[in-house]
Amino acid sequence: MKESREARNGRRASRAKPARNVLREGLRLERVPDPSVVVLFGATGDLAHRKVIPALYHLWRTNLLPHEFRLVAIGRRPYDDDTFRAEILASLERYSRVLPLDLDAWESFAPRIDYHRLDFDDTAGFEKLASALDAYDAEHGTPGNRLYYLAAQPSQFAELIAQLGRAGLDHERHEGGWRRVVIEKPFGHDLDSARRLNREVGKVFRESQVYRIDHYLGKETVRNLLVFRFGNGIFEPLWNRRYVDHIQITVAESIGIESRGAFYEQTGASRDVLQNHLLQLVSLVAMEPPATFEANALRDEKVKVLRAISTDPANDVVRGQYGPGWVAATQVPGYRAEDGVDPASETETFVAAKFTIDDWRWSGVPFYVRTGKRLPKRATEIAIQYREVPHRLFEDEGVTPDANLLAIRIQPDEGIMLRFGAKVPGLGLDVRSVTMDFAYGSAFNVDSPDAYETLILDALQGDASLFTRVDEVEEAWGIVDPIIDTWATASAPRFPNYDAGSWGPDAADALLEREGHRWRRI
Ligand code: BG6
Repeated sequence: MKESREARNGRRASRAKPARNVLREGLRLERVPDPSVVVLFGATGDLAHRKVIPALYHLWRTNLLPHEFRLVAIGRRPYDDDTFRAEILASLERYSRVLPLDLDAWESFAPRIDYHRLDFDDTAGFEKLASALDAYDAEHGTPGNRLYYLAAQPSQFAELIAQLGRAGLDHERHEGGWRRVVIEKPFGHDLDSARRLNREVGKVFRESQVYRIDHYLGKETVRNLLVFRFGNGIFEPLWNRRYVDHIQITVAESIGIESRGAFYEQTGASRDVLQNHLLQLVSLVAMEPPATFEANALRDEKVKVLRAISTDPANDVVRGQYGPGWVAATQVPGYRAEDGVDPASETETFVAAKFTIDDWRWSGVPFYVRTGKRLPKRATEIAIQYREVPHRLFEDEGVTPDANLLAIRIQPDEGIMLRFGAKVPGLGLDVRSVTMDFAYGSAFNVDSPDAYETLILDALQGDASLFTRVDEVEEAWGIVDPIIDTWATASAPRFPNYDAGSWGPDAADALLEREGHRWRRI
């Protein structure tokens, strides 16, 4: 039986009881998607359990999914619905961002989850899946709207897409019933493989049906970057080579490679984070204002940035690998001693680079980027360092060189900080750097959704703005490929070249020092 709007509103009111805060009033536009089925491939895997299913549960809990919503979980294990649901409940208890669980919401969510056993190479099995989904639509009132979510191994993406095509699961119906596919990262291993995969995807789905995930784009603070830049008149005039000295973007992680040794050996920091998360941040910082916030207008501007990026792989890129050390007062092994890692591995766990963006806005402004595992802390930050005044009136009065700085903290402690020189109270003319700080948590006093919640909701709504388009992915590989190729022919630095718990190899400091800059202490 359908739940009435009043009953739903009642549910909504009884669960969400946030403290009153004028800053957030009228902010959240609640958009409930069409009745739909999410068909999740790789449903027994880590990503599904840690991220995708918890995100769906939270969307359900906060009434952002339609009443006629179903999750068809596909995996190879011989589970029945109850066993699978019990596993999901256990994972939610572990990974849900809000605990304790809302058991009322779980009680109404669980019956909407069904498990379907399928081997990805079983063509007849996909045909059966197609009939089962049609029967399912008839039974549950979901008019053929389907989101295929590929949370499987990347090596299985092409096969899965081809199977969906063979079984006609991509066909959108005239009378309604959309079909979309969400593809997780990594999208390809290099430019050639990304192109091949794009070709395979393109044989089955139109580009408008394809949603390539980079979960950084779903983070609240990354989305706020667009609002900050294009929703305020005061920053945009200062966002160019005339005022900006250089930009630093850091994606630092204190964790190692966890249990992903085999994956990471094939990936390294350049493929794992530089090619996607870091380059996405660069393009959002550097892009021109789009004419509208329509997905293609936004992505057109990001692609222009990627096309204009240049770097000299031999001189402007530094790689590193961590040795043993201490992180957060815990002794940790070096990368080469991690499970699944070759004891003589030359895989990089750190990369730093200087990019230039050859366009009118940014010509001559260095963009320094770095990412690494086993750094002292988890911190993602964009720092815009402004030029000094043309004539220093207070030369000897102690203005520290880190004034004139705007720092956007993506995570944790999400917020924005402006650092400038101010006169110390007193009779002299003593000047010091001070900060103005906006902190998301305390300003809005509200829980931010996880990136996966935002992105899944957008995909269900048909909004692809926060997903990467075919040309974006290929342009990004076009930047990273020459770096990896250069490393393949050059002799590797002596790895390990940084201690776990330090800020990376000395060469990363030298990269900035040679231009009179230094990495910001985060
Ligand atoms: C993933 C990488 O894409 O992003 C991981 O594969 C990395 O290696 C993770 O740890 C970082 O994401 P977040 O959201 O924790 O910053």
